[in-house]
Amino acid sequence: MREVKTSAPGKLYFFGEHAVLAGKKSIAFAIDQRIYCEIKERSDEKIVFHFPEVGVEYREYNGRLSDKETSFATAAINCIKKLTRLRGMTISTRSEMHPGFGTSSASTVAILGALSEFYGLGLSKGDIFNMGCQVVLDVQGEGSGYDIACSTYGGVIEYVRGGLPKQLKHPNNLPMIIGYTKIKADTTKIINHVLSLKQRYPEQISTIFGIIEQIVLLVEDALEKGDFRMLGELMNMNHGLLAALDLSSPELEELIWVSKKAGAIGAKLSGAGRGDCMIALAPGKEKEVSYAINSMGGLAFFGKVGDGLRTE
Ligand code: MEV
Repeated sequence: MREVKTSAPGKLYFFGEHAVLAGKKSIAFAIDQRIYCEIKERSDEKIVFHFPEVGVEYREYNGRLSDKETSFATAAINCIKKLTRLRGMTISTRSEMHPGFGTSSASTVAILGALSEFYGLGLSKGDIFNMGCQVVLDVQGEGSGYDIACSTYGGVIEYVRGGLPKQLKHPNNLPMIIGYTKIKADTTKIINHVLSLKQRYPEQISTIFGIIEQIVLLVEDALEKGDFRMLGELMNMNHGLLAALDLSSPELEELIWVSKKAGAIGAKLSGAGRGDCMIALAPGKEKEVSYAINSMGGLAFFGKVGDGLRTE
């Protein structure tokens, strides 16, 4: 019986979230926490999902996207179905990833990679990236695709919506600490809030997005040189602009300020905002910052950059 295994990493935004949806350059990175996917051939014609971490022990594929726990996997199969005749298989996933780090995009990419191998389709990373973006749009209706770019290619990625992701040079061990607020961000609601601001204050919001892109342009250089001071200062600026859009929250601000007090050069919210994660840059102070985040009620992780999609 045929059997294939793949894995793909989660992601975090570094610079340029939200502005990316208005076509601006952004930078994100893959983290070293992964989702593993295994596909085993079945003797019958059924396509079965086994996703124990989201409470799905056994669910048959039906092509519909209404089941939350299996919507991304279903949309991925719907894409593959256009390329080949489906055979019976059980698709299982296992996650070592913390919620808030892009479980949906990592599982979408890991599943697409495994389906490509299972059916011998030989899809390139570019093909998987394009299909992954389609899956996100089919399920969520909105999304820049940066998360799919990170999960597919890995590393630190410069990303413009509709363009090809570019891997950026970066120092080997970025002294990055991630703080999870333990509050789940409602990305769709938050994107709509920014859209509404944009409709009411078009010039002001487009100026803010323009400044965010100017920051992103400097980050490429700072990353290549390993200039942590500059990176930290740019993180503070980007955070201030996101806070101006009312995307911060008391919990994010607490973790940001406690990190700075513990020695971080810079800190910002990461992703949609109003919850999920913040990131801090703290060369030589990583342990102190992690401790401070945990003491303030957050959950701290070392932000090691991860590899992209791979066969296990
Ligand atoms: C959410 O993690 C980041 C946003 O920029 C949306 C997106 O890029 O898909 C708000």
